[in-house]
Amino acid sequence: MQSILRGSNGRTYRRAQSSDLIPIMEINLKTLPEHYSDYFYESLLAEIPEAFIVALEGDRYVGYIMCKTEYGFSSFRRLGFVKKGHMVSVAVLPDCRRKGIGRILVEEAIKGIQSRQCVEMYLEVRCSNNGAVRLYEELGFIIKQQLNSYYRDGEDAFLMAIEFGSK
Ligand SMILES: CC(C)(COP(=O)(O)OP(=O)(O)OC[C@H]1O[C@@H](n2cnc3c(N)ncnc32)[C@H](O)[C@@H]1OP(=O)(O)O)[C@@H](O)C(=O)NCCC(=O)NCCS
Repeated sequence: MQSILRGSNGRTYRRAQSSDLIPIMEINLKTLPEHYSDYFYESLLAEIPEAFIVALEGDRYVGYIMCKTEYGFSSFRRLGFVKKGHMVSVAVLPDCRRKGIGRILVEEAIKGIQSRQCVEMYLEVRCSNNGAVRLYEELGFIIKQQLNSYYRDGEDAFLMAIEFGSK
């Protein structure tokens, strides 16, 4: 039994566990063109369960977010080499959108990433995905770069990043 991170309006948010992975993959298949192997989901869950979170409405899975941690060049400091979080995937079922679920998932993932001593977090998002870009900007992410033909279908991505502890 996993402890609930947050609950509101009949929805609960908690860390994912192995038995959640099939419903999470089903949400991914319904909502995003980027899919991953079973092993990839399992490895992210094993690596950083603090930032692998599911949203439920009653017993129904309605959203998820999953992340990883990496060492690499800073998006903010010239020549800086830092530990950073990478938001790999977030999605909410279409009939559950615009109810604040995505925002809570990202907020909770940020907390999980911060608990692992990451000083930054970044993500890639399709340049056409205005709703997601707006959500990330509202939470403090900044567009740092445009990645040409990042997606398989040729669309560009924005690399967006947030620096922690700078306020
Ligand atoms: C992006 C996504 C996760 C957002 O989830 P959500 O639960 O609908 O988001 P929220 O309800 O928390 O939205 C919070 C804020 O983000 C912005 N926002 C979210 N979706 C938006 C949209 N379609 N159009 C405009 N603004 C949007 C708004 O400012 C919104 O606040 P408001 O509803 O008070 O105006 C969801 O649309 C989704 O699953 N999309 C398909 C998968 C995807 O694109 N994932 C991101 C890949 S990088």
